[in-house]
Amino acid sequence: MTTLLNDPVTRTQAYFAGAWRRTPASFDVIHPGSGQAIGAVADCTPEDARQAITAAETALKEWRQVNPYRRGLILRRWHDLLFAHKEELARLMTLEMGKPITETRGEVHYAASFIEWCAEEAGRISGERVNMRFDHKRGLTRSEPVGVVYAVTPWNFPAGMITRKAAPALAAGCVMILKPAEQSPMTALYLAELWLEAGGPANTLQVLPTSDAAALTAPFMEDERVRKVTFTGSTAVGRQLYRQAANTIKRVSLELGGHAPFLVFEDADLDKAAREVVGSKFRNAGQTCISTNRVYVQRAVAGTFTGILTRLTAQLQLGDPLLDTTNVGPVVEQAGLDKIQAQVQDALSRGATATVGGHVQSGLYFQPTVLTEVAPGSLILREETFGPVAPVVVFETEEEALRLANDSEYGLAAYAYTRDLSRAWRVAEALEYGIVGINDGVPSAAAPHVPFGGMKNSGVGREGGRWGLEEYLETKFISMGIE
Ligand code: SIN
Repeated sequence: MTTLLNDPVTRTQAYFAGAWRRTPASFDVIHPGSGQAIGAVADCTPEDARQAITAAETALKEWRQVNPYRRGLILRRWHDLLFAHKEELARLMTLEMGKPITETRGEVHYAASFIEWCAEEAGRISGERVNMRFDHKRGLTRSEPVGVVYAVTPWNFPAGMITRKAAPALAAGCVMILKPAEQSPMTALYLAELWLEAGGPANTLQVLPTSDAAALTAPFMEDERVRKVTFTGSTAVGRQLYRQAANTIKRVSLELGGHAPFLVFEDADLDKAAREVVGSKFRNAGQTCISTNRVYVQRAVAGTFTGILTRLTAQLQLGDPLLDTTNVGPVVEQAGLDKIQAQVQDALSRGATATVGGHVQSGLYFQPTVLTEVAPGSLILREETFGPVAPVVVFETEEEALRLANDSEYGLAAYAYTRDLSRAWRVAEALEYGIVGINDGVPSAAAPHVPFGGMKNSGVGREGGRWGLEEYLETKFISMGIE
């Protein structure tokens, strides 16, 4: 086995308080494809966090005064550098968290698209003239940066989930301190390096990896100078951050768990619907917040649809994520695999059938799986799976399909396939989800300009486009009396 340790693309030093730093302690980053360590990353402490906040406060004073067009130019250079380093970034993401290399190449484009959109939009951040009811007054609004932002990002999109937060924050004139996921800190460090190379001023984007997320996070949540927290991750951690943010009334954006239903009506294009379930369910081995988690198919077409879905799933190549031929790689870690196995075992024990897959192949590789006859009450119909398993449930009527789809604590993404235009509208309006794909299994693809976020326990706020930018702006109202 060739060694992946200290591969040239790896990055290990933290960046805060104006310098790249080693810390007394470090922690290993593991390649899920082989279980090998790829390097040991700086392990930052609460004291490092306090230094970062002070450095951010100073950096903010200048960055917020930089002409927004100039901020846009720096963002544009950052975007270009991501493309100049596309292969290195893609390899690094695959090494860190096991996503197939063809997908991580796509993620570089996805991550860069948020920067590009914000680079173009930065110069347009302004305000509005407001008519006043007194003749001797004039009113206007002015958009100002929220200030110092603390960001906590996940491992499933190691680049995309950073740029979706950092690009609008930096365009708005905020500065960001980032705690990347323990599984994928190196991509974050690489992005910070490129930001500095693009001309981003010192301490406008600091990155503090840590093996103790709760300890590192505490100083940020307590500090009045940190005016916003933005988080993508589990609903349980999101709830904690929401509570902690209350003490200093921070602005909060939370992009949390999902449990996406995918409805296939009898009038749907079944081949296309099955292809899109495969795309939505098995990309990133199912470790996507908006991945299909439950498939509901109308009885008249259930047999045909399940047959197509099973055939397409069986064709997926499970294997080494560094190979161009691989469609599905390993899951990120043992805890994730245990959860997937527990959900599959629970469904099988209640009478479900695996028409394909159903088992661990080796290591962290779980076979792409389709389950049929999944009993109501099965864990997999309630809990987020974050794995390559598609449970299929049969429904009779549109009303029943909507009731099943909405019967969830989550409200992030939902999908429906139908060729009936009236049904398409009815269903789109009735689904209690922040993102709805009608005959579209990947609504966020190549779409940095659309709102991404959830209802109910799936979160607060939106990322992407003008909605995402607004999250980093305060609205100041200025009223002026005239003679
Ligand atoms: C996520 O898992 O939240 C990101 C999915 C996407 O942006 O498509």
